[in-house]
Amino acid sequence: MEPHFYSTTDKDKKARYEEFLTQYAGLIENERDETSVMANTAAALREAFGFFWVGFYRVTSAEELALGPFQGDVACYRIRKGRGVCGTAWAEGRTLVVADVDAFPGHIACSSLSRSEIVVPIIYNKEIKGVLDIDSDQPADFDDTDREGLENIMRLMAETLYS
Ligand code: SME
Repeated sequence: MEPHFYSTTDKDKKARYEEFLTQYAGLIENERDETSVMANTAAALREAFGFFWVGFYRVTSAEELALGPFQGDVACYRIRKGRGVCGTAWAEGRTLVVADVDAFPGHIACSSLSRSEIVVPIIYNKEIKGVLDIDSDQPADFDDTDREGLENIMRLMAETLYS
């Protein structure tokens, strides 16, 4: 039986990320296929946290990200380096937490319902492999706890996939 990822509202968010990381380690430990692991990562994150849109953009050339596995509505295929929240997080090599996507210069609106967003680069050996992108239909839905929790998850995914 595969592990099941519950959204436990009786716990605070930090505890939910900690619990997720433990279960997630078991989910991915025996698989090295990038597409498969990204697909289950998006599904597990959606199941556990109920995200509006959660998925990956992968670095496929020096200039461009391409859409990877995701959960949510259809999304744009390509994002240039430095464009939108995803392309900016890639260019700057750091997590971006955007409280109001309409106030972010160059935000790429895949869904008109999106209000806030967090983008976490996937880094291995100082190389950026892609980004995790999460959108919310609520404003200011992401904070430092999400940033830390999601960075830990992406660190584990990168170590598992690329080492
Ligand atoms: N909003 C992102 C584009 C991807 S969609 O949100 C899925 C951006 O500005 O990079």
